[in-house]
Amino acid sequence: MNKEIVVSGIRSTGFLHLGNYFGAIRNYVRMQEEYPCYFFVADYHSLTTHPDPALLKPNVYRVLAENIACGLDPEKVALYVQSDVPEIPELYLMLNMLAYKGELEKTASFKDKARTQPDNVNAGLLTYPTLMAADILIHKASYVPVGKDQEQHLEMARNFAQRFNHRYGETFPEPHPFNFGSDLVKIPSLDGTGKMSKSENENATLYLADTDEVIRKKVMKAKTDQGPTEVNSVMPDYIENIFLLMRLVSEADVVKKFEKDFSECTIRYGDLKKQLAEDMVRFISPIREKAESIRHDHVYLHKIMKAGQEKARESASKVLSEARRRMGINFYC
Ligand code: ADP
Ligand code: TRP
Repeated sequence: MNKEIVVSGIRSTGFLHLGNYFGAIRNYVRMQEEYPCYFFVADYHSLTTHPDPALLKPNVYRVLAENIACGLDPEKVALYVQSDVPEIPELYLMLNMLAYKGELEKTASFKDKARTQPDNVNAGLLTYPTLMAADILIHKASYVPVGKDQEQHLEMARNFAQRFNHRYGETFPEPHPFNFGSDLVKIPSLDGTGKMSKSENENATLYLADTDEVIRKKVMKAKTDQGPTEVNSVMPDYIENIFLLMRLVSEADVVKKFEKDFSECTIRYGDLKKQLAEDMVRFISPIREKAESIRHDHVYLHKIMKAGQEKARESASKVLSEARRRMGINFYC
């Protein structure tokens, strides 16, 4: 077991999808064998965009169940809910004193959300990166398995850690994004525009809860064209995306066959998509079935959440005491 600590979180904003799986959860499942890991449902973060109380609980249970269905083992890791660990919001408050309005306003995710929800540009959105830094620093994590879209947030977490260390003395290691391959992953949407996402682009996103029929329908609708007319043509982005997905779930020789067909202009996109659809069904259906059997078992899920909370608070309370001491907030010792 390595000694570097791993932290990552997923917001409870809806159904998990292939992007969450290949960008984040696949790495969690491998890292749990090699590192001390803390994985959590970021329910406070979800309130910045999804404040409906009626949806919060089912969404939290869903994210927990889907993580376990993907192979996360609650015996091996601390699997918990962010709001069950009060040390996190306390560190968040302290880190907010080290975060500048200007840099928060410049964050891409803030600008994006300010544009998409102009009537609800709340302070939680603005300080999203400081809460995320608190999630990570509260366990002194070094590695954070996330998708490519989180790079900027990680960079900010490193800045806050450096600032804290500079002002109050060496306390936090600098957290870095992590992926077992070389680059961080971005799973594209099926319509060739942007990435798969929990809350946008639903028809072009493959969810881990999609039925076999829905998977087939979505894949068959993926954007293609008439096919290449010259040998060894450059692949358009949307075709490249289909191959990217295929490389994740299909056998290597199947992918090779279709790549060869593309280069030789004999490819039939209908066949390519049919193959991808069947391989996706084979990949997703066992996860869907397992998650469905766990999702409604609240007794089991509560047991896991409580055990996770205990492990997380044990680590978090130590780090929080140290941070308070360094800041001079330790009156009674
Ligand atoms: P979403 O963006 O769908 O709301 P989250 O923000 O909760 O999902 O992301 C949870 C994790 O999944 C993060 O590590 C994020 O980087 C990763 N992720 C989300 N979408 C993708 C994608 N399309 N490709 C790769 N990783 C992704
Ligand atoms: N911001 C992340 C996302 O949208 C979720 C998240 C919250 C997170 N806190 C975190 C990820 C801490 C890694 C570490 O995907």
